[in-house]
Amino acid sequence: MFKNDLLKNKRILVTGGGTGLGKEMATHYAEHGADIFICGRRENVLKDTAAEIEDKYDVKVSYESLDIRASQDVDSYIQRIFDEGPLDGLVNNAAGNFISPTKDLSHKGFDAIANIVFHGTFYMTQSVGKRWIESNHKGSIISILATWVWTGSPYVVPSAMSKSGLNAMTQSLAAEWGQYGIKVNAIAPGPFPTKGAWERLNPNGEDGSVMGDNPMGRVGEMKELQNLATFLMADGCEYLTGQTIAIDGAQYLTGGGTFSNLSKLSEDDWEQMRNMIRSSNNKDKADR
Ligand code: HXC
Repeated sequence: MFKNDLLKNKRILVTGGGTGLGKEMATHYAEHGADIFICGRRENVLKDTAAEIEDKYDVKVSYESLDIRASQDVDSYIQRIFDEGPLDGLVNNAAGNFISPTKDLSHKGFDAIANIVFHGTFYMTQSVGKRWIESNHKGSIISILATWVWTGSPYVVPSAMSKSGLNAMTQSLAAEWGQYGIKVNAIAPGPFPTKGAWERLNPNGEDGSVMGDNPMGRVGEMKELQNLATFLMADGCEYLTGQTIAIDGAQYLTGGGTFSNLSKLSEDDWEQMRNMIRSSNNKDKADR
């Protein structure tokens, strides 16, 4: 879809880039020529991913063990990166989530999610953004959200609340930082199976709870997400900012519509429905 040097000379940080969607996006950026920074909590995982990407592509991959909940650690990490040169892109991918009835959540459980997603993502975004503004350097920020930012979601309330806040951050900062050439967007992926998310959101292994009723009848292909993340990161669409883009096969639009479940009807079912509607219309006319 893209030329292999599309992101050449760019330096891109992907939080939570050691595994899952973060690793996939980092790999795709490397394939298109960018030098990569990944951070996360597990150093051994980051080390393996960095080596794997460097083996495949002729780029530099640096890693750092970091918990984005610690604001001071975030800021000093970003300072160390900028000491060697400015970043060009930030992908806020690190997150935490698990399914639980809301009545059973402890305050610590709520905080665990909110501190990572809501607070940690802000620390990271502000830390990078203020250095871009100070140094008059343009940049692109992409946050990985979920379609729950528009619909809310039962059983993942701390995540839905936190990611909705980040949706507001995306819109607000696009307006505030547009004057500095900083583009701020978000991606709301539907079901893209990864080990970490599936184990926490789909613990019994039945795809139904996470899949919902997807009109395309399938989960997302990683390439589809990678291509969107690369398009948003590349130069050439600067006017596209402040947007959260769903990539979910229209799952959330389908689930949210009053008549969405009608897609399950067969041709025979429809024929029966038509006959029922016609006979009801005819009855009305006869009564007039
Ligand atoms: C109820 C739980 C729980 C669970 C943890 N807690 N898991 N409560 N049900 N399943 C509670 C604990 O009991 C504790 O509260 C508090 O949360 C903190 O737990 P810790 O394990 O000490 O926290 P921590 O080590 O910081 O772990 C953070 C975590 C963990 C978020 C809880 O799951 C994690 O590290 N996840 C990171 C990766 C991840 O979540 N990836 C999936 C992202 S998927 P008490 O009161 O008992 O002390 C995603 C969107 C996917 O974001 C969209 C798909 C469509």
